[in-house]
Amino acid sequence: MQKTTQYVLLGVVALALSAFVATRFFGAIPQGANPHDAKPWQSPAPAVTTTAATTPVAAQPRVHEIVLPPEEGSWRESTLPGRQLAAQKCTLCHSIDYINYQPPGMSLEKWTAEVAKMQRAFGAPINDAEINSIGAYLATGYGSAQETDEAVISASVAPAPGQAGVDDVQDLLNANGCLGCHAIDKKVLGPAYRDVAARYKGDAHALEKVTASIRKGGSERWGDAMMPAMPSLTEAQAQQLAGFVLQQ
Ligand code: HEC
Ligand code: HEC
Repeated sequence: MQKTTQYVLLGVVALALSAFVATRFFGAIPQGANPHDAKPWQSPAPAVTTTAATTPVAAQPRVHEIVLPPEEGSWRESTLPGRQLAAQKCTLCHSIDYINYQPPGMSLEKWTAEVAKMQRAFGAPINDAEINSIGAYLATGYGSAQETDEAVISASVAPAPGQAGVDDVQDLLNANGCLGCHAIDKKVLGPAYRDVAARYKGDAHALEKVTASIRKGGSERWGDAMMPAMPSLTEAQAQQLAGFVLQQ
């Protein structure tokens, strides 16, 4: 009985030693023989390292490889203020392909009407000045208008700094205690707003659904914790909050 214990112990020591020797003298060969596996963000493994520390290094590349380029990059260049607004607001519910696949040569009036439809029919969180500004950008980038057109210039009003919309969201968050249970980038009692935005990305009905869940509260979508209903919020306020959450 005692003999067996000794042999087992010896075996363990021998294993540990050979693993140490392998990393000490052959670097990271056991888990990265292919030079293409080496990624620029991976600093070379230090010569003296423990076997325990090498495993997470091997798992790292997979985490990084699934990062997709941000969609914002594909908006056509322009100096018009509508470009930034479009990038912020027009992919809350659907992909930028909806814009790319519109027939070429649409006029300023047609693009502006299209943007207005997004607000009136589908509840896109944009005000009237933003409709005109986004319409002007789309008509020059994707349609028949020129950046120098009189009508384009007058429609392209840069949003005033500290504009009401932004302050309102902050007030609404404070007044309703949202930030007691939520943070932008980490789970508190409720989910991080960034995780909510990620879950609804590409969902054409995201704004509608999230507006409803803010007003009704509930549980089970993210866990057992309960969000209280928010009956004092108007539909428009809930929608503004939902628009804000989905932009995170
Ligand atoms: C609140 C959600 C929402 C937002 C925000 C939104 N859209 Fe849409 N959009 C929709 C829905 C819903 C449709 C119809 C989708 C379908 O048929 O699958 C649509 C369709 C479209 C289409 C296809 C043509 C059509 O009329 O059906 C275009 C172009 C478009 N959107 C442009 C925009 C632009 C530009 C913006 C930014 C101002 C925007 N959308 C923002 C919900 C939205
Ligand atoms: C008392 C804590 C609490 C307060 C206050 C609170 N929430 Fe929540 N919230 C939660 C919890 C818990 C969940 C997860 C519910 C679930 O699992 O379905 C949640 C979920 C959400 C979601 C995700 C909904 C979905 O469809 O996935 C949004 C968005 C949200 N809250 C926004 C808000 C906003 C905006 C306010 C303020 C008006 C607010 N919350 C106030 C606890 C809270």
